[in-house]
Amino acid sequence: MRNQAASAGPHILPLRIYLGVAGALLVLTAITIFAAQADFGSWNLVVALLIAAVKSTLVALFFMHLKYDNRIYSVIFVGAILFLGIFITFTMFDTLNRGGINPLTKMPIKQYAAIYESNGSPIPVSERIYNVSGRIVSNDFFLLNGYGPIKQELTVDPINEKLAASGEKIFNKTCFRCHRLDERFTGPPLGGVTAFRSPAFIMNMILNPEENIRRHAGVQALQKQYYTIMTNQDLSIDEARAVLEYLRSANERAGK
Ligand code: HEC
Repeated sequence: MRNQAASAGPHILPLRIYLGVAGALLVLTAITIFAAQADFGSWNLVVALLIAAVKSTLVALFFMHLKYDNRIYSVIFVGAILFLGIFITFTMFDTLNRGGINPLTKMPIKQYAAIYESNGSPIPVSERIYNVSGRIVSNDFFLLNGYGPIKQELTVDPINEKLAASGEKIFNKTCFRCHRLDERFTGPPLGGVTAFRSPAFIMNMILNPEENIRRHAGVQALQKQYYTIMTNQDLSIDEARAVLEYLRSANERAGK
């Protein structure tokens, strides 16, 4: 019957169905406007798509006569939508890995693929630092904490006076040649350095001065004011930590 009706000529619907569907579409449009202003959080997209799907289904069924046509058209139509959905879903998978914009090429880069310093030069793989959620930390990390073996923000406990005392010995033996606490010498005064440099920066500067002089904008600025450059004193990480403790206690004493 259906096939015959379809092939017998144009299928004419009673006017009240057209008016009914048009009315339903107008109501749904009002709902769309309402939904656009309400905030459903992460459901915003789902709600919007649901309303749109209902509207387009009405149009396809009645205005485009899909409901009264040969079934095969419905199958093709629904099949096409289904596959479109599948393809879009698969192409969306990689959005999870998309990151910022590569400043060199101005193209999107994968979040985990590369990291760029603010001056645009790529940071080599060996120097990439990952935070707990597996993301590469930005260049700000280096500005704050310097370059070197300390690749995490250091949180330091209340001052350990014993550690500070052993740090003082090391300081007097190695750093005192160039640094004083309260005055400019061959190098800058270090009595208040903990007030404006992070603990990790101070340790990285002690353990890896060459690279910080070469790459760290702050140290480079400092370098211009001094005639000598800081040389590596070959301290161990523990010794550097002790010196940091000494500088912290010196800073605290200066503050009192
Ligand atoms: C050969 C001299 C010399 C020695 C030894 C030396 N430094 Fe330096 N230090 C400098 C100079 C000069 C600078 C300024 C940056 C530059 O020009 O290299 C500096 C910079 C620093 C800075 C950065 C200061 C700031 O304001 O950011 C820290 C921290 C520091 N030194 C700690 C130490 C410690 C701790 C030791 C001992 C383990 C040490 N230095 C040994 C010469 C020296």
